[in-house]
Amino acid sequence: MITGGKPLFGEVTVSGAKNAAVAIIPGVVLCDEPCRIENIPNISDVTVIANILRDLGAMVRRVDKNTLDIDPRPIQTYKATEDSVRKMRASYYLLGALLGRFHKAKVALPGGCNFGVRPIDQHLKGFQLMGAKNDLINGAIIELDASESFHGARIYFDTVSVGSTINVMLAAVKAEGQTIIENAAKEPHIVDLANFLNSMGANIRGAGTDVIKIRGVEYLHGVTYSIIPDQIEAGTYMAAAAATRGRITVRNITPKHLESISSKLCEMGCEIDEYDEAVIIDATKRPLNRVNIKTMPHPGFPTDCQPQFVALLTTVKGTSIVNESVWDNRYQYVSELVRMGANISVEGRLAIIEGGHLTAAPVKATDLRAGAAMLIAGLVADGTTSISNISYIERGYSDVVTKFQSLGADIKKVYFPDDGAAATTA
Ligand code: EPU
Repeated sequence: MITGGKPLFGEVTVSGAKNAAVAIIPGVVLCDEPCRIENIPNISDVTVIANILRDLGAMVRRVDKNTLDIDPRPIQTYKATEDSVRKMRASYYLLGALLGRFHKAKVALPGGCNFGVRPIDQHLKGFQLMGAKNDLINGAIIELDASESFHGARIYFDTVSVGSTINVMLAAVKAEGQTIIENAAKEPHIVDLANFLNSMGANIRGAGTDVIKIRGVEYLHGVTYSIIPDQIEAGTYMAAAAATRGRITVRNITPKHLESISSKLCEMGCEIDEYDEAVIIDATKRPLNRVNIKTMPHPGFPTDCQPQFVALLTTVKGTSIVNESVWDNRYQYVSELVRMGANISVEGRLAIIEGGHLTAAPVKATDLRAGAAMLIAGLVADGTTSISNISYIERGYSDVVTKFQSLGADIKKVYFPDDGAAATTA
């Protein structure tokens, strides 16, 4: 429940990056010794992937809220077919990790896409070129078999894909010979995964550019590794500060990863001061301007901040146009914003936003970033907005209610028991 209208002020500390964590944790499967992973975000996606590793046989111990000790040595199986695997999209990274370790993998396909078709043809193309036969069992389980020959390959991706780049990188680390990935994705979490794997003794060059070269190695040793800060979480708090016309300091970030977001906020009229590991955003100085945004693979404007910026633009006078060029269908949440009085029309990949005024309404999170957009809309709307389906938000945002409370927001999490008894709060 959020009562809007209070500008955000104060400081917020960003957690470790979700999309790095969900690649690095499965990456531990490739290691021949135990690892300690630090700066892990406190989110449900991490709990799910940690439990999947436990089901595989790994020893996973939570040292504290943000640190996991993982011993992958007891894993004896290449099969991850439990129902839990279907709960999160990124569990398909087990395909690359198990293939790398056992030269075989059998993994349940993630279900329930939340913004349109999410194909994995490029992942499979990469594995095939490395010698893996693949089989789709009952449309629900992928089986890879490279037991006859598992080798490096030259792989040109038809489309820039974060997941395919990560999955092939994981498999290639222990394949025989050299793998070259061309048209690779360049997101900060790809570089983070490469740094993690290299710190264990892998031989990966070029991560963060279009071409990544991986020479397979036989042994990976244990490490202690700290995950990079979450650029999308940071961008979400920055958008919220701008939407409420506040001034906040966002700590534990890498400003370089936020360039596309910061420059868009500057274009809108916010003042941004960058420090080594922090950024101050000030939206109190002048009225904000309308802008156009086109989402692109990194270093372009991230699609994972698109819904949050659409919510922000509903508060800015004039017509803004957003072009979603990464996903076919990432505007399901728009109808929820319209319930709050937003004037947005969607035409294919374009959203045309007439800035105006939001009023509170009961809305739901249709996916993780859509949920973040609802939070931002609730923070500016007149009255008290209720957001349901918040488990989506908790998949990717650590301690989101307390973080917004610490910035002065009037927000609380309310439990509605199924038995119809009165709601309780926490
Ligand atoms: N694509 C294909 N074939 C493939 C793979 C992808 O055509 O085999 C297409 C997709 O349909 C899409 C485009 O390529 O149009 C990009 O997809 P990509 O593979 O880059 O996305 P992903 O790896 O499935 C990750 C993030 C998403 C984020 C995208 C784009 C993780 C776990 N997920 O997804 O994050 O939107 O990259 O940056 O890293 C989120 O955090 O809210 C989220 C959805």
